[in-house]
Amino acid sequence: MNQKNDNTPNAMWGGHYSTAPDSIMQRINCSVDVDHVLYAHDIAGSIAHVTMLGDVGIISKEEANQIRDALPKIAQEIADGQMVWNPALEDIHMHVEMRLKELIGEVAGKLHTARSRNDQVVTDLRLYVMEAMEHVVGCITSLQRSLCNRAEEYAETIMAGCTHFQPAQPVTLGHHLMAYVEMLERDKGRMRDARRRMAQCPLGAAALAGTSFPIDRHQTAKLLGFLEPTHNSLDSVASRDFVVEASSSIAMCAVHLSRFAEELVMWSSPLLGWIHLPEQFTTGSSIMPQKRNPDAAELIRAKTGRCMGHVVHLLTLLKGTPLAYNKDLQEDKEPIFDAIASLDLCLSAMRGMVDSFGIHAEKMEQAARAGHSTATDLADWLVRTLRIPFREAHHITGRVVVQAEQRGCALWELPLAVMQTVDARITQDALQVLDVRSSVASRTSYGGTSPRMVRAAIVRAREVYGLEE
Ligand code: ARG
Repeated sequence: MNQKNDNTPNAMWGGHYSTAPDSIMQRINCSVDVDHVLYAHDIAGSIAHVTMLGDVGIISKEEANQIRDALPKIAQEIADGQMVWNPALEDIHMHVEMRLKELIGEVAGKLHTARSRNDQVVTDLRLYVMEAMEHVVGCITSLQRSLCNRAEEYAETIMAGCTHFQPAQPVTLGHHLMAYVEMLERDKGRMRDARRRMAQCPLGAAALAGTSFPIDRHQTAKLLGFLEPTHNSLDSVASRDFVVEASSSIAMCAVHLSRFAEELVMWSSPLLGWIHLPEQFTTGSSIMPQKRNPDAAELIRAKTGRCMGHVVHLLTLLKGTPLAYNKDLQEDKEPIFDAIASLDLCLSAMRGMVDSFGIHAEKMEQAARAGHSTATDLADWLVRTLRIPFREAHHITGRVVVQAEQRGCALWELPLAVMQTVDARITQDALQVLDVRSSVASRTSYGGTSPRMVRAAIVRAREVYGLEE
């Protein structure tokens, strides 16, 4: 960023000051290196405000037009990297106003009638976060589409379903991928929900108490695309729960990505060898030529920690601040900006991996057979066929498992005669259910893992969650 040093007393608020701030004061107070990203929203807010000022006659139409015509030029200058950033001007709001004065002279000072930086900054931030939420929801939708496509491809691919990371029951890879589609849909719900609550315009709350000018807050709210104005001026400038809500919905989504990232790390390790990640999303080692490290997945895990930290940061920022505005609130931007940027990147990286990972179906299925994963199927068979209580069937099956363990073989490799030493009522028929494929195919309950149910879940998700391409 272009920065020039300026030692003159502050031009915006230095009326009763005789000296410039200490250089350390300037450093601790200056936020423009962070909040300059709000420039477009700040200028949009000013355009709405000045339009309203002109419409209700607080300033003349000519003055309003003069200011309104110059503001887009400033936005363009900033976009083109032409703004000279001056730490003495503290923040984006003062930079825009100062530049306006350079362009059109003293009339620029009328823009700040009936508003304050306190309502201005929170209006900018609401607009920014609302837009970011919309963008992130779009990125999540793209990831869900990719997950559905891969789930369709692997609707019949057997993999080990785990609890406690112990083989539990066989499932399909398609089913596993669709679990994340559901989690992500709830994340989108939380973001949309937060966004809806955010859609109230604080502009016109002024410093904290409202204003004596006959402003039309409904008009500015409407011009900026908010649903309505906020209803209490103190709350308007003091509250940042919208930032907390946004960042916590981001953290939740990041946690979901992190869990999946952890699975990709494990699945792609040669120790499991279920999948391979493409070269584009892995890195090699400078010393071990054989390595293919899942760095993107690991970094998703790591960036999730940042997103979680930002929620704590924001809550801590608020917990000891009395009403209304406190300068503490200036520090709300870095965490939310970083949370948004981190999640955005994580979503793209995850999508890249989801679109391109390859599988080793044999190894996956082999792992699904491990650990007597179809023992529950035998217990269920006993319940269905012998009409005995599940608890008793569980006990019998447990003893059959012991027989298999003693022989070091899989359940389905046990001779029928051995099973019958445990319970004579077990017949040849029972052996059918021990196969992982028939196990998976039998899980046809709603939301279950059978390929048929997985395909139905994909169709439903595409339709209900609006994932059709
Ligand atoms: N840069 C400030 C912030 O981000 C703007 C509001 C300043 N208000 C004040 N009373 N100093 O919060």
